[in-house]
Amino acid sequence: MRRNFLFELGEYTLLAVPVLRDNFVYLICREEQAVLIDAGEARPVLKTLEQKNLQLTEMFITHTHHDHVGGCRELCERIGALAISPAVEAREYDVLGTRCRSLSKPGHVAVHKIYSFAELGLLVTGDTLINGACGRLLGGTAEQLFESLQRIKSFPDETLILGGHDYLEENMRFALEEEPGNADMQARLALYQRDPAAAIFVTLAEEKRTNPFLRVDSLEAFTALRARKDLF
Ligand SMILES: [Fe+2]
Repeated sequence: MRRNFLFELGEYTLLAVPVLRDNFVYLICREEQAVLIDAGEARPVLKTLEQKNLQLTEMFITHTHHDHVGGCRELCERIGALAISPAVEAREYDVLGTRCRSLSKPGHVAVHKIYSFAELGLLVTGDTLINGACGRLLGGTAEQLFESLQRIKSFPDETLILGGHDYLEENMRFALEEEPGNADMQARLALYQRDPAAAIFVTLAEEKRTNPFLRVDSLEAFTALRARKDLF
């Protein structure tokens, strides 16, 4: 069984909670309160909340694919936590004594939010930027997704990127097909075998070194790359 990954961020804690087959949802916690980003499945979240004695106050949703929202209703019914739809216009929220900013980053689907916790150095990217790659085009356009990724590249390099899935092994194998001999990609794939969390959850700087979708500079190159990945 996959386990939670825990990161200490001063007085905050970040928990990456595996749900379903290969999704991650994220709990950001301070003292006894927590917010959740995405809710593909309720049970692992409820278990973590109980184990850590946490009260969930809000759920922020990146997009409405079932593997990101399937647990919303149960979490709402069991503990009354409110889910914030990705259709809510981009804005800033005060949560847990810090700021959470939602930004529209479509492309994987037409309506997709990412959530920035700038003071904590965290960016939850859902299926727009999945660690080592990006989401498929399932409702948005290549132009939208390319533009979204270009905007994400302007975040501070030390930002920790939190994507919606663990596809890292496949993503690095694809990346190495594109850039055979890229030592950073080889190292990330090797690290995944020893310490999956350290390879999955990396900074934007490391994503820029190892994620082919952040390494193309034109829409044409991006569109062709996305098409090759679809067939990989
Ligand atoms: Fe999705």
